Amino acid sequence: MNLNFKGKTVLITGGSKGIGLSIAESFLSEGAKVIITSRDTGNLDDAVASLTKKGFAKDHIKTAALDLSQSSACNSLYDQFQNVDVLINNAGAIPGGNIFEIDEDKWRNSWELKVFGYINLTRLYLKKMQEKKSGVICNIIGMAGVSPRYEYICGAAANSALIAFTQGIGGTSVRSGVRVFGINPSPTKSDRMETMMKKTAIDKLGDASRWMELTTALPFGRMADPSEIANLAVFACSDLCGYLSGTVINVDGGQLFATPQK
Ligand SMILES: NC(=O)c1ccc[n+]([C@@H]2O[C@H](COP(=O)([O-])OP(=O)(O)OC[C@H]3O[C@@H](n4cnc5c(N)ncnc54)[C@H](OP(=O)(O)O)[C@@H]3O)[C@@H](O)[C@H]2O)c1
Repeated sequence: MNLNFKGKTVLITGGSKGIGLSIAESFLSEGAKVIITSRDTGNLDDAVASLTKKGFAKDHIKTAALDLSQSSACNSLYDQFQNVDVLINNAGAIPGGNIFEIDEDKWRNSWELKVFGYINLTRLYLKKMQEKKSGVICNIIGMAGVSPRYEYICGAAANSALIAFTQGIGGTSVRSGVRVFGINPSPTKSDRMETMMKKTAIDKLGDASRWMELTTALPFGRMADPSEIANLAVFACSDLCGYLSGTVINVDGGQLFATPQK
């Protein structure tokens, strides 16, 4: 299957680790050039080293170290790299916790990145893509937006806002040739998820090191692998999915509709 990404440029925020790094690898495998961002040059250097070790050409990978919770950083990212064919909004770091554990400062700070970062970059790149009459924006959101939980309330509310944002923008962006859609991962192996699982293991089992026990009740008895999100993202961004916009795909192994286990 030719996904037609040769010569295309893909910008992936939060591309130094986890789901974002896996998405970068999948696009590189399809012949695209990638730009990956994170706050930390060390993390970006490690990501480039791991990708080149897998055989990908170094000149197909550019990096930008920026804190995208700052709107000025979103502007400078855009100034640096205006011509991208695909934008993957992925950088997010909302902590787990209930309403009493997430105070107002924590809540606002985490939304600066995951909510306003996505909105700011979409505003910038959508305009440019509309001028070119082509482009794709894929928002990596999260299942908590459709199945909100007390223990991840800040992330649930952010994701729910981003789902509405994606649907509202993607319903009309197609009139100027641009597709905007999202993907909702459920728990997926990454540094961030391990940290969150350890917190839950302390709350539920009294021992952070027992966090893996929490994954056995998940569909297939495991978390999703980042590559399972990445491969979907690349396929959905490709011309083969040219009619996909204004929707958010749930990737939860069917958990949303699973009959409760006794
Ligand atoms: N993993 C899951 O189970 C899961 C489930 C549902 C949704 N998601 C969503 O998927 C996305 C990726 O999650 P992940 O689990 O792969 O996370 P991760 O492994 O922690 O990676 C997060 C990435 O974002 C970057 N980042 C963090 N804060 C940043 C900031 N202020 N400015 C710019 N970059 C920043 C990180 O690099 P630096 O630390 O170097 O900045 C890293 O590259 C997030 O939006 C998350 O909410 C994940």
